[in-house]
Amino acid sequence: MKNGKPYIMAVLCVSALAAGGCGKPKAQEPANAFPFPLGAAVSNEDLNSQNPQHGLLRYFDIYVAGNEMKVENIQPREGVFRFEKGDALAAYAHEHHKKLRGHTLVWHSQIPAWFFQAQGTGEPASKEELYARMERHIKETVSHYKGRIDSWDVVNEVVGDDGGPRDSPFYRIAGSYDYVLRAFQWAHEADPEAKLFMNDYNVEAPGKKQNAFYELAVWLKEQGAPIDGVGLQSHISIYWPQASDFRRTIDRFAALGLKVQITELDMSIFRYEDTAKTKTADQVEECLRTQAVKYGELFTVFEEAAAAGKLDMVLVWGLSDGASWLNGFPVPGRTDYPLLFDRDYQPKSAFRSLTDKR
Ligand code: XIL
Repeated sequence: MKNGKPYIMAVLCVSALAAGGCGKPKAQEPANAFPFPLGAAVSNEDLNSQNPQHGLLRYFDIYVAGNEMKVENIQPREGVFRFEKGDALAAYAHEHHKKLRGHTLVWHSQIPAWFFQAQGTGEPASKEELYARMERHIKETVSHYKGRIDSWDVVNEVVGDDGGPRDSPFYRIAGSYDYVLRAFQWAHEADPEAKLFMNDYNVEAPGKKQNAFYELAVWLKEQGAPIDGVGLQSHISIYWPQASDFRRTIDRFAALGLKVQITELDMSIFRYEDTAKTKTADQVEECLRTQAVKYGELFTVFEEAAAAGKLDMVLVWGLSDGASWLNGFPVPGRTDYPLLFDRDYQPKSAFRSLTDKR
């Protein structure tokens, strides 16, 4: 892993296999180098072997589509389902013995306007219409991928930043969190084996939003919802939150009998309120040293939580720094460095702080 030899061996072995040599094919070649199941968000372009970051796919055990399985891509027009891109990822994952997360069935973002409009009028849809669309989208999508998705983000970001329900068209039309409960029930009907998750950001540290997320999880369980766990997106920075916050948070949700997954980890070198597009080379270097330490601290917490059966898996939101969405968010045109591989697709010290644990 450290000097790239296993990759060369894997490539040689794959060629030898094609020629009938190298013995029995192994399920995961090269062997998983991580102390817990580690995944990454990928795009369909990454599946192309000509893509410069394609080789990084081999480091991860689980893939999730960064965009391809969102409602705007799966059902761009009412009743028109486009599964080709998700299917390409599912086929690649299957061929390479990787797991898949499904992201995401119910989210107020990256969803076409028709979803919330009464047919033909542009007026807001009635609750019945909205529910019919949700049920159809969830059931068509989940049954299409039945047996191929380990875990689904059934709902994404349904809690507001102030700790109230998120003021989204879903909530405005449904009038209560009942739509969240229904979403879990429909997903479960379509694939009883898939693990079902509620996913959100800024819930990794104690606070109003985490409390609201927790209360909603408790309520869902009381209603008998088929919820298996919670996803902590973990779009964090080198400044906030701390590894100890993650430990407390994972313990808090695990105590409810829920699985915890870290679903979209990236660690910006900018504070969230910072509007700067860049930092000086010296500042970047110092931030990257801090980042390596913080990734190391987080991975220690994750490793312990995974060993205790509280943490299911950890996914990072992208393969390498140059491809991160944080280069455009929240400040357009920014250069950020949040992931485990650098712009030249080389492992960062953050990554080594993980693999060195082996
Ligand atoms: C992001 C993608 O990475 C971007 O390519 C896209 O333009 C916007 O969405 N929370 C989520 C993810 O749940 O789906 C978002 O992904 C990042 C924030």
